[in-house]
Amino acid sequence: MSTPSQALIQTDELQRVRNPLEEAWTLPPSAYTSAQVFERECATLFSTGWLCVGREEQFTHAGDYRCIDLPAQPIVVVRGHDGEIRAFSRVCLHRAMPVAEGAGNTTRFVCPYHHWTYELTGELRSAPMMQGARGFDAKQCRLPSLAVEVWQGFVFVNADPQAEALAPQLVGLTQLIANYEFEQMVIVDTLEFDSPWNWKILVENFMEAYHHIGTHKTTFQPVYPAQASSVDDNAGEPWVLLRMPAKPEHAVADVVFPKLREDQQHELLAICVFPTLLFAASASGAAWYQLELTAHDQMTLKIHAMTTAAGAQGLDETSRTELMAMLRTIHEEDIEANRGPWIGLNGSMTTQGRLSPYEKSIWQLNQLWADALGLAAAPVEGV
Ligand code: FES
Ligand SMILES: [Fe+2]
Repeated sequence: MSTPSQALIQTDELQRVRNPLEEAWTLPPSAYTSAQVFERECATLFSTGWLCVGREEQFTHAGDYRCIDLPAQPIVVVRGHDGEIRAFSRVCLHRAMPVAEGAGNTTRFVCPYHHWTYELTGELRSAPMMQGARGFDAKQCRLPSLAVEVWQGFVFVNADPQAEALAPQLVGLTQLIANYEFEQMVIVDTLEFDSPWNWKILVENFMEAYHHIGTHKTTFQPVYPAQASSVDDNAGEPWVLLRMPAKPEHAVADVVFPKLREDQQHELLAICVFPTLLFAASASGAAWYQLELTAHDQMTLKIHAMTTAAGAQGLDETSRTELMAMLRTIHEEDIEANRGPWIGLNGSMTTQGRLSPYEKSIWQLNQLWADALGLAAAPVEGV
C-alpha cells in the first residue's frame, strides 16, 4: 500500500512513459486506480484545461441551459438574453444547494432551497428575508464563472481565468478536419452508459485501432483493419488524430460531408481534444463520446450520433434505428475492453506494459497527461 509520503508514480515508471515511442510503456496502474492521482488531475488538467460540455445547437434560444458535473465542480451552461453562452458554478452562494438540475429553458435560476434567484449571467437578483443581515449586498454577489469557447460547434469551458485560448492550440487539427464542417453538425440520437472505471481507459481504447484485431474482430477489423491505421504527428498540440482507412472493397454508402476529398471518403477518424473530447467521423456521419466524470472510478458516457442538417432530414426511422444499433454493438464490444483492464489494473501483481508502435496515440496522450500533471522524468511527492 502506498502512503501519502511515497511517490505514487515512481521515477522509473515515469521514465518508461517518457521513453520514445519505440521503447515506451503504458502509464503505471496507479495512474488509473489511485484517488490521489485523480485529485491531482482535478487540481491540474481539469482545473486549467478546456473541457467539452456540449454542442452549440443545444443552446439555440436565450435561456436554454444544461447542467454538467465537471470532475471538480457542478456547473450550468446557458445562453443569455444577449446571445452569449456562459458557464458558471451552479452551487448556490447561500448554503450550497445546486440552483438547477438537468436541462431546459428558463428566464432565471431559482434555488429550490430558500429561493435565492439568479440572472442568466450568474448575478444574484434577489434573496428573500435577508433584511438585517448586516453588510449583505445582493448586487455584489454572483456565481463564479468559467471561460467559454466554441470550436467546431463544440462548447468548451475552462475554470482557469488565465487560460490560453483553445483555438490557437488546435490550429493543426482544425486544418486537417476542415472539410468535415463539424460546426454544421446536429445530434440525431443519444445512447447513455454508466462507466464505472477510470476515464483514461476509455479514452485510450477510443483512440487506438490495434484492438480491432481482438475486441472488434468481426465488426471493425474486416472493414478498418488495425494494420492500416496510423496516427498523425501533433507537434505537441493538445490533440490526437487516428486514421483508420477502410479496405477498398468497402464502398461508402452516403457521403454527408460534400467537401471531403476522395481519400477522406474512405477513412474513419478518431479524434481526441485532450483531455476528454472524443469524436469519430467517417464520410457518412460522426459520433461524439461525451464523458462526464466525477471520480477516478466513475463516469457517465453519452454517445451522440451526429450528422449534417441535410443528413438528418434524409435519415428515416429505420436508418436511425440501424445506426443506433450499430453504435450500441460497437460500444458493447468496447465495454469489455474497458471493464477487463479496469479489473486488471486493480490487481496487486499488475505492472506497466509495453506499447506497440500502433499505439502512438496512447503514447501522445501519455505525454500530454504527464505534461499537464507537471511530471518530469523525476519523482513527484504525493503523485
Ligand atoms: S441554499 Fe440556495 S437559497 Fe439557500
Ligand atoms: Fe473499440
